[in-house]
Amino acid sequence: MYILGLETSCDETSVAIYHPDHGLVAHHIHSQIDIHAQYGGVVPELASRDHVRKIIPLVDQSLHDAALSASDIDAIAYTRGPGLIGALMVGVAVAKSLAWAWQIPAIGIHHLEAHMMAVMLEEEQPQFPFLTLIVSGGHTFLAYVQGLGQYELLGDTLDDAAGEAFDKTAKLLGLAYPGGPALSDLALQGDAHRFTFPRPMVNRPGLDFSFSGLKTHALSVIREYEADKAAYADIACAFEVAVVDTLLIKCRRALAHCGATQLVVAGGVSANRRLRRVLTDALAQEGVRAYFPRHELCTDNAAMVAYTGYRRWVEGYQDDNLVIQPLARWPLA
Ligand code: KG4
Ligand code: ZN
Repeated sequence: MYILGLETSCDETSVAIYHPDHGLVAHHIHSQIDIHAQYGGVVPELASRDHVRKIIPLVDQSLHDAALSASDIDAIAYTRGPGLIGALMVGVAVAKSLAWAWQIPAIGIHHLEAHMMAVMLEEEQPQFPFLTLIVSGGHTFLAYVQGLGQYELLGDTLDDAAGEAFDKTAKLLGLAYPGGPALSDLALQGDAHRFTFPRPMVNRPGLDFSFSGLKTHALSVIREYEADKAAYADIACAFEVAVVDTLLIKCRRALAHCGATQLVVAGGVSANRRLRRVLTDALAQEGVRAYFPRHELCTDNAAMVAYTGYRRWVEGYQDDNLVIQPLARWPLA
């Protein structure tokens, strides 16, 4: 069976085709970075309009790449939410229209569940149950996962998500949108010992996060060193070390709480090199295996949507095809 996946929740238009025996037979990601960079962040209306322009050509291109025709597609999985409402609406409307025209099921997918499931496209996969750390541009949380759709939320962010903190701090450092990867590149040249940033909320019990104070701390250090641009790499490095260390501390605490020996890290920030290295090495010493998707499957993509659609389809899930209802907010649980 072939599943067509569509992702349009934010600033990437992506289309993929997944087959359980052949794997990913097509995958395209069109990034809107160039459109939004001049504004320093995502402009929702421009995002929606670009999805409208790109999505059908990418569906055609994907069918062509896989040497398939529309009649070979057995189901369509699309990102139903959470995300930007206008951007989601494009993917939902296209998915439902094609499903109706082709007389096949449509399957609405939770974007963060899809991020978590991206790791199942790798050769070495975790087994349920496991702990998951989702670190994206809009969300940062820890959940104990007993199976697909069985989530116990253990900790959430009280303010900024980790990716948001990366992006805002990068902006303060004068780096172009999207700031996370740029800050991480700058941090590579930095001295990790020059500045020490706080580890927010680690001295309090519980598994919640708060990253906005870290950004404020960065702002005050940046102001102090405004004349000394050479300090910026050290500031970026101190910021990144503090975020990664905070995430490690909370993961350890959550692992002890739920007794899991596997951790699945997902969402855009899971592409961060320091996070991957530190979590993998530190947790391995404690008998915990950390799983990450490959780099290109960490940020938004339709491969994870098509795959999650397949898993949901196996469980008998499908939409009412006449209902078009994206969800800008949609709690995972
Ligand atoms: O999951 P994602 O692609 O979109 C959302 O669902 O939000 O995550 C995007 C976020 C952005 O904040 C971006 O700056 C961050 O992930 N990000 C990174 C890295 N790559 C992407 N943050 C730190 N280091 C990276 N290498
Ligand atoms: Zn995402």
